[in-house]
Amino acid sequence: MPTEPTPPEDELLHFMDPSRSRGALEEFGDATWREALDWLYDHAASRPMGSHGTYPEDRLSFFGPTGSPAPAPVHPSPWRDVLQTFRTRVAPATYNAQHPGSFSYFTPPPLPMSIAAEVLAQWIHQGTDVWHAGPVAALVEEEVVAWLRELIGMPGGSWGVLTSGGVMANLMALTVARDIHLARLLGDPTCPPRGERLEAVRIYASDQTHFSVARGLDVLGFPEDTLHVVPSDDRFRLQASDVVAAIEEDRAAGRTPFAIAAVAGSTNTGSVDDIVGLAELAGREGLWLHVDAAYGGAARLSPRTAARVPGLERADSVTVDPHKWFYQGYDIGGLLVRRREDLRATFHREPEYYRTNDPDAEPLNWYHYSIEGTRRFRALKLWMSWKHLGTEGFATLVEHDVRLAAHLAQRSGEAPDFEAVPPEPELSVVCFRHIPEGVDPDDPRLDAYQTRLQRALEVDGTAWVSTTTLRGRTYLRAGFVNYLATEANVDAMIDALRRLSSPAWAAAPPTP
Ligand SMILES: Cc1ncc(COP(=O)(O)O)c(C=O)c1O
Repeated sequence: MPTEPTPPEDELLHFMDPSRSRGALEEFGDATWREALDWLYDHAASRPMGSHGTYPEDRLSFFGPTGSPAPAPVHPSPWRDVLQTFRTRVAPATYNAQHPGSFSYFTPPPLPMSIAAEVLAQWIHQGTDVWHAGPVAALVEEEVVAWLRELIGMPGGSWGVLTSGGVMANLMALTVARDIHLARLLGDPTCPPRGERLEAVRIYASDQTHFSVARGLDVLGFPEDTLHVVPSDDRFRLQASDVVAAIEEDRAAGRTPFAIAAVAGSTNTGSVDDIVGLAELAGREGLWLHVDAAYGGAARLSPRTAARVPGLERADSVTVDPHKWFYQGYDIGGLLVRRREDLRATFHREPEYYRTNDPDAEPLNWYHYSIEGTRRFRALKLWMSWKHLGTEGFATLVEHDVRLAAHLAQRSGEAPDFEAVPPEPELSVVCFRHIPEGVDPDDPRLDAYQTRLQRALEVDGTAWVSTTTLRGRTYLRAGFVNYLATEANVDAMIDALRRLSSPAWAAAPPTP
C-alpha cells in the first residue's frame, strides 16, 4: 500500500501545535528576515540595477541554457535550500530602489514599517471585500482612506477605496464618471450608458496623461475618439483656456463633453495641470473632473510643498497611489470620490452568497465600492507607516526629494553640457540631457546618445535613471522618490555621465 509522501518539514505545514512548530517558525522567520538584510547590504547597497546584462543574457542567466521556464518542481526541498535559491537566483538580479542612486520611474524604497506590516498582513490574511472575511481590516481601510481624504481636502460625504494602483483607480474613476455623470447628462440617471449611448461623447486630457486613461476608456466601451487630447503648454501642463476651445469645438459639432481627466504630477515630468482653472471650467460646463494625483498627491503631506498641487479638493474623483511617494511596498493605490453614493451606485452588487441576515445593521462591505473582489489587506502598511512617521515625518521625506530634484535641475542649468526641461521641476522629476562639448544642441544624434548614456549608466551602477521622449526629443528622466539619496549621489551621477560620455557618443548611430 503506497504511503502519502511527507514534506521534509511538516512542522512548517501543520503548525498549530506550538510545542512542535513555534521554534521552527521562529527560526524560519528569522532566517528569512536575515536573508532580506543580506540582499539589502550585499546587493541593494551596491548598485541600483542588479542585473545589467542584455535582456537575452538576463534570461539565460536566470533560466539556464534553455532560456525558458523549467517544469514545476515535483519533489519537496528543505526551506534552507529554497532560501538558498532565492539567494543565488533572485537576489543578485533585482532592481534596487534602496540604492541611493536609484532615481526610478516611481519606485520608492519601501519603509521598513511598511514591509513589517506586509508580513503581518500576510499572516493574518484578511480579505477586504465582504465584512466577515476581514472585519478589522475593513475598519483600518476606512480609517486610512479617511486620512487620505482629509489630506487631499475632500469634503464631508466623500469616500474612497484602496486599489491595486493608479491604473485601477483611474479605470474606476472613469467608470463612475460614465455610470453616474454621463448617465445624468444623457437624461437617464438610472440607466448607465452602454453601446451606442457612448458615442459622440468627449473627455479632455493633455498629451501628458497617463496611458491608463485612454486604455480605461477603451475597456469601458468608449469609441477611440472619445479622448480629446489637448496639447500641454511649454511646461507640460493642461491649461483650462485650451480646454475651453476644445469644448466649444465639440459642442459646435454636436458632441457631448462629459469629463476632464487632469493630472497632478505627470509621469513624464511631474507637471501639474491647471487644476483650479479646470475645476472652474468643469463647474461652468457641467463636466466631471477627475484628477490623477497618483504621484503628486503626496505633495500635500508637507505644508512646504502642498501649494504645488492646488485645487485637488475641488475634483469629483482623485487617484492617489501610496506605493509611489508615500514610500509603501507594492501594492497600494487609492481612489477618492466626492460623494460616497457615486462609488456605491457604480459598483454595488448583491450576490446571494454575501447576503446579510440583518439589512438594518449592514456592515461595511468593501466589495460594494470597488471593481475588485477579494483584496489584500493593503491598508495596514500605510496605517502603520503613518502612525510611525506621522504626517510630519512623511513631509520631511517628500521635501527631501523635492530638494534633490531642484539640485539636479540647478546643476543642469549651470553646467554648459547639461540641460533640464523644464528648467525648474514642478515636483521631484527632472528630465535632462547631456550635450557633449562641441556638439550642437539640435544635433539629432543626441537622442540615440541619451539612450546609450542611460544604458552605460545602468551598467556602471553609480545611479539609475530612465529615458523619455518630450516633444520628440529623448531625455534622461530622474524620478526622486528616494529619501535614501543625497546630493552627493546626484553629483556622482553627473560625474558618471560625463565619464561615460565619449564611448556613448561614439556608439550613437548617425542620423539616417
Ligand atoms: C500619473 C500616474 N498615474 C497613474 C499611474 C499608474 O499607476 P500604477 O502603475 O500604480 O497602476 C502612474 C504610474 O506611474 C502615474 O505616474
